[in-house]
Amino acid sequence: MKKDVLSITDLSREEIYELLESAMDLKEKRKAGETTEYLKNKSLGMIFEKSSTRTRVSFEVAMTDFGGHALYLNSRDIQVGRGETIEDTARTLSGYLHGIMARVMSHETVKKLAEYSTIPVINALSDREHPCQILGDFMTILEYKDKFEGLKFAWVGDGNNVCNSALLGSAIMGMEFAVACPKGYEPKAEFLEKAKALGGKFTITDDPKAATKDADIIYTDVWVSMGDEAEQEKRLKDFSAFQVNTELLGVAKPDVIVMHCLPARRGLEITDEVMDGPNSVIFEEAENRLHAQKALILKLMR
Ligand code: CP
Ligand code: NVA
Repeated sequence: MKKDVLSITDLSREEIYELLESAMDLKEKRKAGETTEYLKNKSLGMIFEKSSTRTRVSFEVAMTDFGGHALYLNSRDIQVGRGETIEDTARTLSGYLHGIMARVMSHETVKKLAEYSTIPVINALSDREHPCQILGDFMTILEYKDKFEGLKFAWVGDGNNVCNSALLGSAIMGMEFAVACPKGYEPKAEFLEKAKALGGKFTITDDPKAATKDADIIYTDVWVSMGDEAEQEKRLKDFSAFQVNTELLGVAKPDVIVMHCLPARRGLEITDEVMDGPNSVIFEEAENRLHAQKALILKLMR
């Protein structure tokens, strides 16, 4: 039976631990220059409806490292752009490929891809979730903190797709999750309910200092996500008090790590000083996307 990963909740706590262990092993092997051709002659299709730097490059390099091949399929250039259905695309691609990853506007698209294909489908960001991001993030947390249970994860900013996955992932792994966002930008009730059902402990406030007090992790993301551009002006005003800066770091634990999924808008959601400062693990976090996704495609496609 093929397995899809559309949400971080498609993985159990045990599976996440196994993936992170595998990711760390793959990281060591890569640094040592070992050959890891575990997916020789296998192909991954990468459908993109939105821009990407990290996701595209890390998945493509992952397939190269494994001796396989990755195909970049911009949705404008394949026939879906001219009206071929996702269902027919999924059926067709299943005859060529061994896996599909897709970055989509609407989560329904990645669900349909999964439903109509006979090969594993990975959500590489939708309007609802970004599970691949969270796997790389959790790998980084484990490297720095050596555990999840009992840590305080403070989310400062928009209750968006990355926040949803972080909230659900924290519930699975036993971290306390504190959201600070302007009123009206909270994660949707269905995600909060899902987190609760997973045993998650979370709080929501519009006071960034309350959320980051004694935090082990401070995480932020852009105020204007892909697809939200029409609200740019309003959002920049609404979020102006939610910047991750040195003053905010002052209320967290001294060894707090600062994370950001990137791309960042320096000077808006995060200052240069914090992003380039001693608590920032942001570029290791970006690198870990590669190792964590390698573990994921190996699990799903081997
Ligand atoms: N964090 C992330 O997914 O980055 P890209 O948009 O560059 O892929
Ligand atoms: N929330 C951002 C994440 C980008 C990786 C977006 O959806 O644009």
